Amino acid sequence: MKVLVVGGGGREHALVWALRKSPRVTEVVCAPGNGGIADLARCERLEVTDTQALERLVSQEQPDLVVIGPEIPLAAGAVDALQASGVRVFGPTQAAAQLETSKAFAKDFMQRWAIPTAAYQVCRSLAEVDAALPRLPGGLVVKVDGLAAGKGVVVCETQQEARRAAEQMFSGELLGVAVTRVLLEERLEGPEISFFAVCDGTRAVTLGVAQDHKRMGEGDTGPNTGGMGAYSTDDLVSPETSAWLLEQVAQRVVDGMRAEHMPFAGVLFVGLMMTADGPKVLEFNTRFGDPETEALVLRLETDLLDILEAAVEGRASSVAIRLKPGASACVVAASAGYPGTYETGKPISGELRAAAEALVFHAGTRLESDGQLVTSGGRVLAVSAAGADLNEALTRAYAALNNIQFPGMQFRRDIGWRALQQGSPRSG
Ligand code: AMP
Ligand code: GLY
Repeated sequence: MKVLVVGGGGREHALVWALRKSPRVTEVVCAPGNGGIADLARCERLEVTDTQALERLVSQEQPDLVVIGPEIPLAAGAVDALQASGVRVFGPTQAAAQLETSKAFAKDFMQRWAIPTAAYQVCRSLAEVDAALPRLPGGLVVKVDGLAAGKGVVVCETQQEARRAAEQMFSGELLGVAVTRVLLEERLEGPEISFFAVCDGTRAVTLGVAQDHKRMGEGDTGPNTGGMGAYSTDDLVSPETSAWLLEQVAQRVVDGMRAEHMPFAGVLFVGLMMTADGPKVLEFNTRFGDPETEALVLRLETDLLDILEAAVEGRASSVAIRLKPGASACVVAASAGYPGTYETGKPISGELRAAAEALVFHAGTRLESDGQLVTSGGRVLAVSAAGADLNEALTRAYAALNNIQFPGMQFRRDIGWRALQQGSPRSG
């Protein structure tokens, strides 16, 4: 079977790696891919925002299955366009992807279907913000209503800060473009987890749970990023909590979307905060997480192709998804300056084909014509390893990362710190 994977980051490298392990996969094409994916799949040029170019590529390649990695093509309606021409594609339609592309849609949907989430108010102007603030608690989170690559969320201590954040969103100061809607949200407290369910429009099945590290700095300080590392362990949540998340959140989403005539198929990624009042949904994404996927695939025992095909064919619950016992972890190496402006084109050297115990997924790399691998993004590499426990997985991932260099490379030395409860960052 020939599979086309759309995207070119660490998540797509991990998906391509997992698909290549399937005995039924004969060929993987990745568009646009990157310098690491090129080792496992033929890479074809593609601007992922260009749905027509994707349709042309699909008609040339005639894959048996298309898997969409990033949110941008989902938001642009790539799944709708491909399905209309009879292509088997894994991912939600544009309407179903609104769970991710519009925070206001997601919050209103959660309210309609009684899914636990923070109190909120959607505002269309600063005047509406001023009217809403007195009714909301002191600690607030202000969010842009739309895709903003992790840059559209400001966590505020005071109402003045929240007002200022909303002002910067409306004026365009924050993102460079003026936004028309912002959300004011009650600020929740607690550890965050990412819950993944594979959905077929009717049923949701649990894929796994992971913890991301969104802040740039150690100890969860500094600016938000796309994710600086992730891990997955057996005891990140209890089996009871996992079952609850499946039934009370993921399945409710699938039931609600179906009832509203926007059936949800693909991966539902539920970002949750485990508060003293129980789990509450922070956000939905409608795709695999990055870097959670780079950690999770190392534990996946079930053939990824079987999972994706079952979802596309409306029989997700026919596949028992099994994860290897133990743990896996992923540490992201980023360019200097990330998540702000960063330089690219820096040569990468060292042991890129990591030891058997770790895998180096490429997030933002490019192969120059002379064969030199260079940086081409903010997040550059995602080094992943599995182990009998989290400590072993992290030790292996950091050992592999310590054998790789590029100018300005920065990474967090404390991935998994909450779970390890060691208080101080890892050395090395
Ligand atoms: P989001 O893109 O909505 O997931 O928000 C990005 C990050 O902002 C989350 O991972 C949280 O760390 C933080 N955040 C979002 N919403 C809230 C909230 N209601 N309370 C506290 N922190 C939040
Ligand atoms: N890990 C966060 C994301 O994929 O959006």
